[in-house]
Amino acid sequence: MFWLSGGITFLFLCHGAALPPPCDSEIYCTGELLRQVQMAKLFDDNKAFVDMKLTAAPDIVLDAFSNLTQRFPNGTVPPSALQVFVNTYFANSGKEFEPWSPPDWHDKPKLLSKISDPKLRTWAEELHGLWKSLGRKISNDVRDNPQMYSMIYCPYPGIVPGGRFTEFYYWDSYWVLNGLILSEMMETARGMIQNFLHMVDRYGFVPNGGRIYYERRSQPPFLPLMVESYYEATKDVEFLRKALPMLENEYSFWMENRSIVVEVNSVKHVMNRYYVQVGQPRPESYTHDAELAEGLPAEAQEKLWTELKAGAESGWDFSSRWYINNLGQNNGSFGDTRTSSILPVDLNALICRNERVLATFHRILGDEERARVYDSAVSSRLKAIESVLWDAEKGAWFDYNLLSRTRNSAFYPTNLSPLWARCYSQPEMGQQALQYLRGSGALDYPNGVPTSLSQSGQQWDMPNAWPPLQHMLIEGLSQLDSSDAKDLASDLAQQWIRTNWLAYVKYDAMFEKYDVSGDGKPGGGGEYEVQLGFGWTNGAALQLLDQYGNKLTSGGSVLGSGLLIGLIYPIVNVISYYVPFW
Ligand SMILES: *[C@@H]1O[C@H](CO)[C@@H](O)[C@H](O)[C@H]1NC(C)=O
Ligand SMILES: *[C@@H]1O[C@H](CO)[C@@H](O)[C@H](O)[C@H]1NC(C)=O
Ligand SMILES: *[C@@H]1O[C@H](CO)[C@@H](O)[C@H](O)[C@H]1NC(C)=O
Ligand SMILES: *[C@@H]1O[C@H](CO)[C@@H](O)[C@H](O)[C@H]1NC(C)=O
Repeated sequence: MFWLSGGITFLFLCHGAALPPPCDSEIYCTGELLRQVQMAKLFDDNKAFVDMKLTAAPDIVLDAFSNLTQRFPNGTVPPSALQVFVNTYFANSGKEFEPWSPPDWHDKPKLLSKISDPKLRTWAEELHGLWKSLGRKISNDVRDNPQMYSMIYCPYPGIVPGGRFTEFYYWDSYWVLNGLILSEMMETARGMIQNFLHMVDRYGFVPNGGRIYYERRSQPPFLPLMVESYYEATKDVEFLRKALPMLENEYSFWMENRSIVVEVNSVKHVMNRYYVQVGQPRPESYTHDAELAEGLPAEAQEKLWTELKAGAESGWDFSSRWYINNLGQNNGSFGDTRTSSILPVDLNALICRNERVLATFHRILGDEERARVYDSAVSSRLKAIESVLWDAEKGAWFDYNLLSRTRNSAFYPTNLSPLWARCYSQPEMGQQALQYLRGSGALDYPNGVPTSLSQSGQQWDMPNAWPPLQHMLIEGLSQLDSSDAKDLASDLAQQWIRTNWLAYVKYDAMFEKYDVSGDGKPGGGGEYEVQLGFGWTNGAALQLLDQYGNKLTSGGSVLGSGLLIGLIYPIVNVISYYVPFW
């Protein structure tokens, strides 16, 4: 059906034809076996079940399950019998890997010598050492018998995030890769990129992660920037030549399958959004999605599940940023997640940066004509971002709500992402965005810039601070042509490194996210426990240590001044008591 709203035509999905499941596997992605096992909550984390390996061919497992259901009059297998069935036909995960340690790892990469503070230098050395424990090589058995696994075979070994995330994740890998380059592990970095190029060849885009239940959604498209980082470090033109056709295929996917035309002030712009036309609960969070949709009419359930998958595709799973209530306002609760009705600033800024990188790559390879195609994509994108997302009064960019046709005025660090992408045409916009940030209230926290100012209980909201968002904000500010902005970037780097370091000292671990309100406290909330490891945290920290290593200190400005105040205050008080004119 068509729904007319202030001049834009929205095409809503027609529910006559059911949407495809997350993948075709009747064990891992759809069907009664998955439903019954997950709804019985045999595992604390739904992901544990869909990561298990089969012990018999899928047909046999399905046949055995069908036989089992026939033993119960209403077809529902009680949990104890389900558990016996799972123990028989599934084996614990872990068998999909072979032992592997990155062969290009060596101690004392040059990065370390740039770090002045001895404690931070020792810590950086340990972070560099963590790559060895996060390396994974997928076993040949996954390649030869893929039907027995949910794991997607990748030809090259690589680094995974850690914790429950034992497979590759798309956008995480950008920070991992930049860390690997600083660790001088070019072969591992190159292999990870080759895996992603292989994914584009196979699927037409890069899936969210390395499991078949992720194969019908993507994540923020960082592959062109990974190739850029690798090219800048190696100047390997031949690698660029081989990679470029796949980068263009991926770009076409985003432009054909993840775009929408939006008309503002009578001008039409093509912009990007997260949009996943895939039905059913996410297999790895099955009960969560099923329970959230409980009581809704079938059509609304299916719609909610597409929006949750689009939320997962955004990398921000989940956040009040994606809530739109029945009145079209950016407000509501988890069940109001409507990711696909939002044009996100960061996605459009990222694709703008990708377009510029694709133009540069074509120029390096001597194809001026193709370079111009991407130049013109950049200029259209600049116009779109400025007319749809830029708010001249507030001095920043804001997500656009397609239902209310208004910008969402809430703070997210991504409101400054065009700085990072250098995707704006007027230099004064940079200074305005700096003023906006200072007035936003987001700089009031001692342990990082919060993901939002809304305490929703979701993990991509207050009080969590995430490494990629800190890093993009710091990089964006550091690129501004103003000492104020550069100083702020440096202060934020100091604050973030101190947060990471304090938690490391306390827990002997790196976390996927941190809490802005406690010194060295891991983040929380969301669908699962906070994870250790952790790929992008380590990568972002190594980049900040590389860039600011000569000034960063483990004492840190905030802690330092706190200690100083703690010492001076009583002295001042004592003096002022005895010396009336102090
Ligand atoms: C399912 O039941 C049929 C009929 O009893 C039997 O032939 C078949 O072997 C059973 N399948 C499995 C996998 O146990
Ligand atoms: C099926 O039967 C079992 C026991 O006979 C009962 O506990 C369960 O609630 C029933 N399930 C449904 C969906 O009717
Ligand atoms: C993209 O959309 C087109 C239809 O517009 C469809 O044929 C194609 O399969 C989609 N590509 C992917 C990778 O989903
Ligand atoms: C969002 O909704 C809550 C509860 O209805 C309300 O208190 C709050 O003011 C709303 N916020 C905005 C920004 O509209």
